[in-house]
Amino acid sequence: MSESAQASLLFTPLTCRGFTAPNRVMVSPMQQYASDDSGRASDFHLVQLGRFAMGGAGMVIAEATAIEPIGRMSHMDLGLWSDEQVAPLTRIAAFIASQGSIPGIQLVHAGRKGSMQAPWDGMGPLTEADTARGEEPWETIGPSAISPGSGWSVPREMTAAEIVQNVALWAAAARRAAQAGFRIIDLHGAHGYLLHAFLSPISNHRTDAYGGSLKNRMRYPLEVVSAIRAAIPDDCALFYRLSVLDGIEGGWTEDDSLVFCRELLARGVDLIDCSSGGAISDRSSDVRVRRGYAFHAPYSRKLRQNLDGGLVATVGLIVDPHQAEAVLQAGDADVVAIGRELLEDPNWPHHARSALNGESYDDWPQESGWWLDKRVGALRKLKEAGETPMTRYETLAP
Ligand SMILES: Cc1cc2nc3c(=O)[nH]c(=O)nc-3n(C[C@H](O)[C@H](O)[C@H](O)COP(=O)(O)O)c2cc1C
Repeated sequence: MSESAQASLLFTPLTCRGFTAPNRVMVSPMQQYASDDSGRASDFHLVQLGRFAMGGAGMVIAEATAIEPIGRMSHMDLGLWSDEQVAPLTRIAAFIASQGSIPGIQLVHAGRKGSMQAPWDGMGPLTEADTARGEEPWETIGPSAISPGSGWSVPREMTAAEIVQNVALWAAAARRAAQAGFRIIDLHGAHGYLLHAFLSPISNHRTDAYGGSLKNRMRYPLEVVSAIRAAIPDDCALFYRLSVLDGIEGGWTEDDSLVFCRELLARGVDLIDCSSGGAISDRSSDVRVRRGYAFHAPYSRKLRQNLDGGLVATVGLIVDPHQAEAVLQAGDADVVAIGRELLEDPNWPHHARSALNGESYDDWPQESGWWLDKRVGALRKLKEAGETPMTRYETLAP
């Protein structure tokens, strides 16, 4: 790496457990709805995630991957509930690593927000009408028998015995993820899915050891974290995506998050990824955080300032290299997670590095970078000669 590449914080390497990521850009997990009902990763996943790695992101986190079939959001989601799902993911993790990025994967149980349509089919609950498309609705589960919103079905309340079995499913899926070569296991503890549903008083009305007090509501997610930490190698990092607040009267709060994050760190979580909202599926009354630029930065900042150790990531409309650098320089986070901007431009990290550290193709895959470097000289000569791409056409007679 050239001397100037050390100049920005965004392109300062990040060491965590057994890996060193080349920079602090993390691909935020994004469901692609590109699997078939088997939950196996497809070539689409390989290409999409592979492009992000080729684009220079330091860490690439594969989408929310279900720990059991009813833990999926939709029929098209990835799963890691079976050994048969490991091989295609192994290929993806290996490719990401071959490009110098750190491969990670998010694990999820959708809980009461499962059995859902793809965004382009409405993003609502599956109904009998969807069966014609081959997408039958399934019975969902949750901490309590409370529907996530109008039109959504009422989940079946999990028994204490089911909770114990469910914790074991998380551990098994995490073990498979590590076996597939992922160096980061990211838990989807946000957006109203099962881990979050236990935390939030909106969705958890239990009266046993898993409900009521904050301590009891934290019990299931903390059991999941401990089981996973015990199931994966020490050098494998554990990240946790948290809805820092529900933004709803009577819901989960920032203060609750602080208490919870201290417990997560004590159990071996390495990074808290700050998101928000999603406790209910009713978009009109889900009072979420206003979606401005870097909209979770105030929350990640608060956690970072108040937690003793541990890394913090922030996500949400981080779109510009200087903005991403400012987030880190201001101490709002240690890592920036980027979603849609990378869909728009998978080479965003390479462009950001040039914008912050000076134009260079050194970090691009040499199959492109070698040629692009030569192209700079060719274009410079044309510019010096006063030519533009339109010169020929402006001078041609109509
Ligand atoms: C297509 C798409 C799929 C998503 N899937 C997931 C997911 O699987 N897990 C998750 O935690 N967040 C998911 N999200 C949320 C993103 O990870 C991210 O937090 C959000 O888009 C805000 O960041 P951005 O403004 O950089 O896109 C998804 C977002 C998009 C656009």
